[in-house]
Amino acid sequence: MTDLLTLERDLLAQVSATPDEAGLESLRVATLGKKGSVSELLKTLGRMSADERRIQGPLINGLRDAVQAAIAERREALAGAALDARLASERLDVTLPVRPGPEVSGRIHPISQVVDEITAIFADLCFRVAEGPDVETDELNFTALNFPVGHPAREMHDTFFLKPDRDGHRKVLRTHTSPVQIRTMRSQQPPIRVIIPGRTYRHDSDQTHTPMFHQVEGLVIDDRATIANMRWVLEEFCRAFFEVDEVKMRFRPSFFPFTEPSMEVDIQCSRRGDEIRFGEGDDWLEILGCGMVHPNVLRNCGLDPDQVQGFAWGMGIDRIAMLKYGMPDLRAFFDADVRWLEHYGFRPLDLPTLVGGLTS
Ligand code: DAH
Repeated sequence: MTDLLTLERDLLAQVSATPDEAGLESLRVATLGKKGSVSELLKTLGRMSADERRIQGPLINGLRDAVQAAIAERREALAGAALDARLASERLDVTLPVRPGPEVSGRIHPISQVVDEITAIFADLCFRVAEGPDVETDELNFTALNFPVGHPAREMHDTFFLKPDRDGHRKVLRTHTSPVQIRTMRSQQPPIRVIIPGRTYRHDSDQTHTPMFHQVEGLVIDDRATIANMRWVLEEFCRAFFEVDEVKMRFRPSFFPFTEPSMEVDIQCSRRGDEIRFGEGDDWLEILGCGMVHPNVLRNCGLDPDQVQGFAWGMGIDRIAMLKYGMPDLRAFFDADVRWLEHYGFRPLDLPTLVGGLTS
């Protein structure tokens, strides 16, 4: 009797001293499990006389019930404490402001935006995008484009030359995107319709020139492409790009070694102070050079000028970006100033499309 009371006090003390649920489970097995101490005591009832059992039965069963209840209660207390600890450690301050992700705070550089806009417009006219390397051979940058060796036009380009290689060939930083015309005609068969956006380099620096700048070139080669087609394509492009219903263009005779005839194109605009508007006014602004691809250039690419013909054009991207978005100083484009980018940049998820609008 006293033994049972001592045992009960002892077991209940153990239960309340158990620090965690795992320990509590071991204690349950050790007491109430099949071979547990309390279960063993219960088994002794079977061997007792009826009188003894009448006295011991309620005592031992009482002990089992007390231990069972104490374990259940302790388990609930431990689970509650564990939950409290978790709630405290995983606490969230829902009043904190949400930190914006890169899709909100990031900005697309105006040059990338304009390249995307140009690509969207020409993709709609079934042009593909072609690309070439910034470091180009002299042959592709000049010779194959019908610049004769020693011709002053080579000097006009203010070329950056690299150190000559072992064979004495000097590579150049491409002065225009036109060498990719040659790469394209040498690797693809007509019909060809490509635009070629990319970086170009010339030894020049002031408010409207930087040593690195961007051009986009266009090339169409098939068996019937004409100046009339070229005119339509360029007008279509200008209307879409400057987002106006009509734009007047003026084609002036010019000279480029790789086109014959060659032309420079002005678009109609009005200027009020710093502001320029397109599709109105009586001022003109030069925006691109173009022409019919020179027969020598076709021959240099293994094409027969009696079988195929086509047109090409080249345009400064930075300048039309400045015009369209009213940015006064070209040099700021490449200063990597985050404040400038925040002001002039575009939201990353607002992709330009002809359907959704080039600029939203
Ligand atoms: N490559 C010329 C330049 O950088 C621009 C140009 C003019 C490209 C006429 C052309 C073209 O394809 O037909 O000044």
